[in-house]
Amino acid sequence: MLKEINIAIDNNINIENDKILNIFTPLFSDEFNFDLTNQSANIQLGSLDYNNFQNIVNKVLENGSLNNDSKYIVQQIYEAISNIKSYGLKSGKRVYVDYNKERKVINRKEKEEKRQQFYYTKDNNFSKINNEIPLDFENKILCGDSFEILKKLPDNCIDIIVTSPPYNFGLDYASTQDDNHWEKYFDKLFNIFQECIRVLKFGGRVIINVQPLFSDYIPTHHIISNFFIQNKMIWKGEILWEKNNYNCKYTAWGSWKSPSNPYLKYTWEFLEVFCKGDLKKVGDADNIDISVEDFKKWVVGKWSIAPERNMKHYDHPAMFPEELVLRALQLFSFKNDIVLDPFNGAGTTTTVAKKINRRYLGIDISEKYCNIAKERIANSLF
Ligand SMILES: C[S@@+](CC[C@H](N)C(=O)[O-])C[C@H]1O[C@@H](n2cnc3c(N)ncnc32)[C@H](O)[C@@H]1O
Repeated sequence: MLKEINIAIDNNINIENDKILNIFTPLFSDEFNFDLTNQSANIQLGSLDYNNFQNIVNKVLENGSLNNDSKYIVQQIYEAISNIKSYGLKSGKRVYVDYNKERKVINRKEKEEKRQQFYYTKDNNFSKINNEIPLDFENKILCGDSFEILKKLPDNCIDIIVTSPPYNFGLDYASTQDDNHWEKYFDKLFNIFQECIRVLKFGGRVIINVQPLFSDYIPTHHIISNFFIQNKMIWKGEILWEKNNYNCKYTAWGSWKSPSNPYLKYTWEFLEVFCKGDLKKVGDADNIDISVEDFKKWVVGKWSIAPERNMKHYDHPAMFPEELVLRALQLFSFKNDIVLDPFNGAGTTTTVAKKINRRYLGIDISEKYCNIAKERIANSLF
């Protein structure tokens, strides 16, 4: 069975059947049956290289090979096919039939109801009333402990948080220790995350970039995700950030090529994504700035992005790249939204937020990093 479209044709118009058939038939071969009579155009679609189809239609409409009545029919066919919004994608083609066959679940809605999607958030007490961020905090880089600064913000005033916390790897940050006992580390981190949840708007998102310290056997990404789940946040998903950096170490000493204690190596980090109260975020359609192509690529939860190359230049040991923040913000927020990074470091989040017309608040405990973040914003080309 192919997908069928019928377009009625007015008897009084003069269409060039053969010419139209010659344009479309070779294009779509057996996946596309095209039958043109004086009364209707009947199209049966299996799959279609839509970009090629679009190019051909544009050429035909622009050049003088068809009369106006024929062009009108070509335009109608183009619109009818473009208006089909449900299709699968296979080998660069749009697939119009059987594309979701293997995913068909009978009575899906009722079954979801019974299983209770994100049941762990059901008795949350999140207020649905969102507030404006006070002007003293809008478009600011503030120096201090995030826990202390966030306490000054009202509830529900931030649209999206994109951050990468200190990892407790023993890095040489300018103003903080990075080698605490894990329990102390998580206590401190979770106090700040608790404040992050409070200041987030209903429908707002938190995106945490985490790289577990595998050599300590602490699954930080799971522990952090568990914290948000216990605090009634919806786990929206996980993005695997593939850094392709293969020069990390191979084994623990003495365990080369032995099952004794092989050391697993990772070339990726995680982005854990959570929502407060609702999976849907309210926003004006005019403030969407992601392109169709980027949307299609970025909803696939594996992003290949090279690590930041300018860490020496900005004198910060653990930056994420601008591209990572750009994708997170364009996929999960609207223009003019308020973006918070409570561990803003050299200001990657705030620089990107400013570049793509979001409002921002960046907090870091180091005066040095805050100054770098301010300079980056001042020097960026917008
Ligand atoms: C992994 S880095 C973030 C780097 C940032 N994503 C960038 O691209 O530049 C973590 C940052 O958290 C900061 N930090 C640590 N403890 C903090 C706290 N209690 N409050 C605010 N910032 C803190 C550190 O100074 C460090 O710059």
